[in-house]
Amino acid sequence: MMLSVEDIHSYYGDSHVLEGVSLAVARGEVVAILGRNGMGKTTLVRGLIGFTPPRQGRVLFKGRDVVSLPPFRAVEMGMGLVPQGRRIFPSLSVLENLRVAGANGKERWNLERVFALFPRLAARKAHPGDTLSGGEQQMLAIGRALMTNPDLLLMDEPTEGLAPLVVREVAKTLDELRREGLSILLVEQNVPFAAKVADRIHVLSRGRIVHSCSPAELLANDEVKSRYLGLGS
Ligand SMILES: Nc1ncnc2c1ncn2[C@@H]1O[C@H](COP(=O)(O)OP(=O)(O)O)[C@@H](O)[C@H]1O
Ligand SMILES: [Mg+2]
Repeated sequence: MMLSVEDIHSYYGDSHVLEGVSLAVARGEVVAILGRNGMGKTTLVRGLIGFTPPRQGRVLFKGRDVVSLPPFRAVEMGMGLVPQGRRIFPSLSVLENLRVAGANGKERWNLERVFALFPRLAARKAHPGDTLSGGEQQMLAIGRALMTNPDLLLMDEPTEGLAPLVVREVAKTLDELRREGLSILLVEQNVPFAAKVADRIHVLSRGRIVHSCSPAELLANDEVKSRYLGLGS
């Protein structure tokens, strides 16, 4: 297993946000966590990489418990993060944003490969991050994570605020990354997008996984969609 999460509990102060979450991601698998705002998706992602370590439970990454490790160790071990809201450096150029991720050029991912994956970034190499469109910023955030040579990519709402056409491009990118053999844990509110790219889906509500299914099952399940994902009725 690339990632095994066993009954994790996370808190902010006294506030109990994740109330026993368990899940697994196999090598080469794309697993999506769907849930509305405030349900604990970002807290889960932060818990896996070590920004908000769970107080209880285990996070096994490539078989090793990483709960007590600082985030940079998880990144060194091959966990890459595409954070919610992209978080690129606005005043740094595209090139500089990619270089701060620190690949040395001898690894699987380097500038050439990121630019081959995202030709639009190559054309804007010297442009400051804050002059990019939302879609280009998302590509940059993904490219920056790839520069750390991850085996597991954590993606926190990569389609947030993007136009439908751009969402389709992100879906294509995820398919390419999957073909590269990457494992992906995707956190989303966009149900059609997640159903399109994921192998398996978990629905998160108030810090618990309340439903687990295949994408096809989710699309056909009106009750789960309306009750937990605010869709239709
Ligand atoms: N830094 C924080 N301090 C206190 N509470 C927080 C913090 N971040 C998030 N929360 C709370 O934790 C819950 C889950 O938030 P979050 O994980 O960001 O949800 P999601 O990503 O699904 O929108 C929410 O009730 C939110 O208000
Ligand atoms: Mg969030």
